[in-house]
Amino acid sequence: MAQQALIVYYSQFNNTTKLAKLIQDATKAPALRLRVADSVYPNNMEATGRIYQ
Ligand SMILES: Cc1cc2nc3c(=O)[nH]c(=O)nc-3n(C[C@H](O)[C@H](O)[C@H](O)COP(=O)(O)O)c2cc1C
Repeated sequence: MAQQALIVYYSQFNNTTKLAKLIQDATKAPALRLRVADSVYPNNMEATGRIYQ
């Protein structure tokens, strides 16, 4: 049967990764994590927020 679903997600601090894995366990759909280069976002919420703005 053709694949019907693909889980595509982005996660900076890995919370969304945990949710994506739960969805993957439940659905058996493949998952694709979107990534940005390490230099794009700092590892700090306030500094990341300034970049978003
Ligand atoms: C700019 C910015 C704003 C955020 N605002 C909120 C918020 O309003 N409420 C919240 O619970 N978390 C907020 N967060 C925290 C993250 O969105 C939150 O921890 C999320 O679960 C991170 O997902 P990730 O671990 O998949 O990257 C914010 C983070 C950033 C960078």
